[in-house]
Amino acid sequence: MADLEHRPVLYREVVRMFPFGERPARLIDGTLGNGGHSALLLHANAGLEILGIDRDGDALERAARHLAFAGKRIQLERGNFSRLAELARAHGWEAVDGVLLDIGVSSPQLDDAARGFSWRMDGPLDMRMDQRGEWTASRLLNRSGEEELERIFREYGEIRSARRLARAVVERREKHPFATTKDLVEVCDQALGRSRPGTLPAPTLVFQALRIAVNDELGELERALAAAREILRPGGVLTVISFHSLEDRMVKQYFRRGAASCVCPPGLPVCVCGKQQEWRLITGKALTAQPDELAENRRAACARLRAAERL
Ligand SMILES: C[S@@+](CC[C@H](N)C(=O)[O-])C[C@H]1O[C@@H](n2cnc3c(N)ncnc32)[C@H](O)[C@@H]1O
Repeated sequence: MADLEHRPVLYREVVRMFPFGERPARLIDGTLGNGGHSALLLHANAGLEILGIDRDGDALERAARHLAFAGKRIQLERGNFSRLAELARAHGWEAVDGVLLDIGVSSPQLDDAARGFSWRMDGPLDMRMDQRGEWTASRLLNRSGEEELERIFREYGEIRSARRLARAVVERREKHPFATTKDLVEVCDQALGRSRPGTLPAPTLVFQALRIAVNDELGELERALAAAREILRPGGVLTVISFHSLEDRMVKQYFRRGAASCVCPPGLPVCVCGKQQEWRLITGKALTAQPDELAENRRAACARLRAAERL
């Protein structure tokens, strides 16, 4: 299969989740990126209209070119996916048949040194997905308290020596404020040393932790799940692809809670909680990439897809 590297992650699984065919349907792609998933869905479903959202202005420009073939069946909006229900209503959509979230950083973002997402390339320490945001990664490193930095490294990067790293950041910035990716890589090397064989390089985890904090990625996801619940019509499907264990856990627990029809303590003779089931799970275990996709696209290795139907 040619050009798999440029296919969006879990592309077959995503298409399977939204089998609308010819019938009229509306879907929100909350993470438009290059428009890869949206293009496949528009080709596979002749009656489908998509509202594509991304907070990154460059991504929207690329997607607009890539999706021009769809004419009025695609509409674009720059914004955060936590506002997807509100953005849909602003387009006159009161309810939708599908919501897709493929969260995380895109290849063009990672591969552009000027965006500062990759520790392997020297560039400004930026990491904002929305270039209009106030908080760059360097600003966060230069201004946050030591305890807050430690929390970010520990919680979002699962870095064992988070305290030592936070201390090293504070010592360094007193002499030279952080400005470039190289500045941070140097501190990682000094404070964390070489990674053990078979584990991810320490800067990968540190950069990931900072990116999650700069872009409030967990807060965005939590609000987006609630917004999807609000805007999906009964029978509509929410599909989420995540790349980080904290995000996947959040989605899993959200669907599990929503799929439960009773939360009474065990042992009660009758149900008294009055809880209603809101979601039907489509995926029990998260779906992961097939070997042929993995062989061609190494970024698919961490992807986990979960989907549920709104009741
Ligand atoms: C992994 S890429 C999506 C790729 C896309 N599915 C495709 O097929 O080309 C993730 C995209 O989501 C965007 N993004 C991440 N968090 C966002 C948020 N909270 N609101 C809006 N867009 C977001 C990023 O800017 C990036 O372009």
